[in-house]
Amino acid sequence: MKFRFMTVALLLSLASAPMAIMQSGAAESGNEQHVPRLADIMSTTQLRHMKLWFSGASSNWNLAAYELRQLKESLVEAASLYPGIPVTNVTTMAEPVQALASAIAAKDTRAFSNTFGLLTNGCNACHQSMGRGFIVMKTPTVSPFSNQAFPPQRKP
Ligand code: HEC
Repeated sequence: MKFRFMTVALLLSLASAPMAIMQSGAAESGNEQHVPRLADIMSTTQLRHMKLWFSGASSNWNLAAYELRQLKESLVEAASLYPGIPVTNVTTMAEPVQALASAIAAKDTRAFSNTFGLLTNGCNACHQSMGRGFIVMKTPTVSPFSNQAFPPQRKP
């Protein structure tokens, strides 16, 4: 499983720092680890997918970069905890994730919204290939997060 985690993490080119934190946390918590259900990891991924959209659409590039990192880590977690998921279904996500990272780095709103569509297609492609074609993701329209500000905040 560790090998699988490393493979997927490398293919999705995760930064090594957050990985180190995840791994040391797992080692310290002993054998009785809580393993999140795949559907719960996915529900978290859904939140990140939505927050990623609203932060990019608001040109809040720092937040968008953060949410993309969180989303990527959820996908790596799903693939490493659930070996039933074909690795290729996860690694095909690497391309849209990388394209989004570039759009965010370039602060390019148009590229961001195009590549966000590619990411969403990737979510749906995996759902379809795993008999979950009834779970269809799309670009969100209205933010349900009335407790979080998405536009960048002015420095005091
Ligand atoms: C590698 C395969 C794969 C990828 C990629 C993937 N998913 Fe999933 N997703 C699944 C599977 C399998 C399930 C069903 C889990 C179950 O039945 O317990 C699922 C379920 C879900 C659910 C339903 C959770 C619930 O309980 O209502 C949501 C929402 C979801 N995924 C969102 C996403 C989003 C958003 C993305 C893309 C950013 C994504 N998924 C990418 C495999 C994937």
